[in-house]
Amino acid sequence: MSFRVKKNIALIGFMGTGKTTIATALASRLNMRYVSTDELIEKREKRTINEIFTKSGEEYFRGVESEIIREACGIENTVIDAGGGAVMREENLKNLKSTGIVIALTADEKTIMERTKKYKHRPLLNVGDPKRKIRELLARRAPLYAKADYIVDTGKLTVRQTVEKIIEIFEKREGD
Ligand code: S3P
Repeated sequence: MSFRVKKNIALIGFMGTGKTTIATALASRLNMRYVSTDELIEKREKRTINEIFTKSGEEYFRGVESEIIREACGIENTVIDAGGGAVMREENLKNLKSTGIVIALTADEKTIMERTKKYKHRPLLNVGDPKRKIRELLARRAPLYAKADYIVDTGKLTVRQTVEKIIEIFEKREGD
């Protein structure tokens, strides 16, 4: 009975796999709420993610991120757009799974590079050789994203196709 109320969809995945675009489109299609852990972190801290990394460091950021995810477990009927590094702490994935289904979005290195290169709001990619950084982080994180309930490769799908695929997964799961 209890799992019937756990109706959230959490999207995890590397930076540039399309989480924010897909999560907002999904939320509007399914008439669900949308929350972004990054936005909640910035709101709580009253500063940008770049500022948090620069002034307080990544570990501090991860602490706030875990707290926000823990709190997000209390919400319902929401699409949760989780920051790309959320999987680095095991408790986050466990907490996200307890709220509903967790879907990992994936894309290949080249697609990620293309999608992220025009933005400067991601401190981990504001480095001399972002390509190398992406490769390193992907290698470390791929096994963690693979722990999601479902994996959807966004590389060759349009936004609409990705959303439809996730809805199919969600509705099938709901009917179980
Ligand atoms: C991060 C991903 C970012 C943001 C922060 C760290 C990561 O979120 O949380 O810059 O470690 O992969 P997006 O995946 O939404 O870009």
